[in-house]
Amino acid sequence: MLTLALDPGLGYVALDRNKIEQVVSAVLSNAIDASPAGSTIRIASARHPGPNGSSTASVQVQDAGRGIPRERLGTVFTLFATTKKSGTGLGLALAQKIVTAHDGTITISSHEGEGTVVEIGLPSHSVAGVGA
Ligand SMILES: Nc1ncnc2c1ncn2[C@@H]1O[C@H](COP(=O)(O)OP(=O)(O)OP(=O)(O)O)[C@@H](O)[C@H]1O
Ligand SMILES: [Mg+2]
Repeated sequence: MLTLALDPGLGYVALDRNKIEQVVSAVLSNAIDASPAGSTIRIASARHPGPNGSSTASVQVQDAGRGIPRERLGTVFTLFATTKKSGTGLGLALAQKIVTAHDGTITISSHEGEGTVVEIGLPSHSVAGVGA
């Protein structure tokens, strides 16, 4: 099951729509791969105010899947690092490249056997066009 908790007041984010869709879809497909049947994946967005009128629009994808062992957490963004039979290990490496090119951040926190949260943060503005 998928639950959505979307903040309607994210502000304006200058982004390449296709590329950010690729990021969200890579993260979501990992969550689906890791989740047992019937478990819930939660997508939440929120705006975090920063200094001088700046803010960060964040999207969190949280699953209650198998999680990532602590010793592997440091390699998930490495190109071609995969634990899947038919995985390419491209998903998160490319996601990180895209997010970084948007001056954003992507972080992953996970506990083996409990689940994983991936958070994507992008700079946002209260006025259309600022920073675009
Ligand atoms: N939500 C998650 N839960 C558990 N493990 C994850 C999760 N997201 C990523 N991983 C681990 O990180 C590895 C790298 O993920 P990445 O998306 O880069 O490649 P992949 O999913 O293996 O291959 P592809 O994206 O081509 O299908 C995965 O193989 C998996 O071990
Ligand atoms: Mg993947």
